[in-house]
Amino acid sequence: MNPQLAKLTPYPFERLALLKAGATPPAGLTHVAMSIGEPQHAPPAFVIEALAANLSRLGSYPATAGSPELRAAAAAWLGRRFSLPPGAVDPGRMIVPVNGTREGLFAFVQAVVDAARKPLVAMPNPFYQIYEGAALLAGAQPYFLNTTAATRYLPDLDAVPAEIWRRCGLLFLCTPGNPTGAVMSRQYLEQALALAETYDFVIASDECYTELYLDEQAPPPSLLQAALATGCDRMQRCAVFHSLSKRSSVPGLRSGFVAGDPEILERFRLYRTYHGCAMPVPTQAASIAAWSDDAHAAANRALYREKFARVIPLLARCSDLPRPDGAFYLWPGVGGDDERFTRELFATHNVTVLPGSYLARDTADGNPGRGRVRISLVAGIEQCVEAAGRIRTFMGSPT
Ligand SMILES: Cc1ncc(COP(=O)(O)O)c(C=O)c1O
Repeated sequence: MNPQLAKLTPYPFERLALLKAGATPPAGLTHVAMSIGEPQHAPPAFVIEALAANLSRLGSYPATAGSPELRAAAAAWLGRRFSLPPGAVDPGRMIVPVNGTREGLFAFVQAVVDAARKPLVAMPNPFYQIYEGAALLAGAQPYFLNTTAATRYLPDLDAVPAEIWRRCGLLFLCTPGNPTGAVMSRQYLEQALALAETYDFVIASDECYTELYLDEQAPPPSLLQAALATGCDRMQRCAVFHSLSKRSSVPGLRSGFVAGDPEILERFRLYRTYHGCAMPVPTQAASIAAWSDDAHAAANRALYREKFARVIPLLARCSDLPRPDGAFYLWPGVGGDDERFTRELFATHNVTVLPGSYLARDTADGNPGRGRVRISLVAGIEQCVEAAGRIRTFMGSPT
């Protein structure tokens, strides 16, 4: 067996299941799951219709590169969403479809990392767990950049020693962040790109939450915009990851794409040809419909905004509640042991959240997730409000 497999940490949801085992919540309260980041809003009917209308096309093998129409729809969306100049993203060479960004992120690391150089893969801490697993299985060493209140929940790029940047093969960014909801400014992204240029590493910018933001006037910027602003007109060293899962509330469709540096993407496409993970044709058809429409994404965003507006005031008892800029998570401090909080909240109020320490790793400066929990606002509005009320009661009760 691949010896790197032994390095993988059990996935947070396995740990959560163990933590909850044996606890019996009150029978009268319905369960509210706020642990998993799985969108629960109804998928758009027109996306389902496009999928259904193309099911007969299951008779042909799809191409790894996806159809020209899919790549064109993705490039057109990038252009609209990030106000890119015409032609900035060549759909022929700068877009690769992926079956959801999860597998895309994983595969990208396998294609980019040169294990012989024993590189570091730098990533925020806490982080989306795939970053670490992908780095380990590619034979790289994860390097954690703690995101805390002191760093405004973003990796502090200035605090990283030059020696580390020199060894860095790949930097993961996540904006808006999971779990913190923090958004990177264009200036921040430009700084990251300047470092990538100086030390010659690739940036994988996970932008799968980019359509979910709180201020309608301030949509999160993309690394692609930073690239153009700094003269990287071929998006050198950049790969951005986009997904329909959160934007269009279709996590089961498994559809996203990577865009960026054509030289990197050419090799990534070659990797995928062998890996054998082309997107089924009906999925491509549904994806074209989804990327081509912005109204449903705006309506979806408005639902999350309403949840934040109604839930945040109910969580005033949390020791600290950073106001997210985007995504659909809250990341409160719970004033104590996050595992105990999670287990007791479940046992007494039938609400499941995720211990923050499960999403982060221990470092010399501690585990930046300890003492926090991640609350996913994916359920319906009334369910989220109900659950927040229970959390409020739980936090007000003597322990
Ligand atoms: C930060 C982040 N990146 C990527 C993903 C993967 O999403 P998908 O594979 O559905 O595109 C998730 C899913 O929760 C996520 O939170």
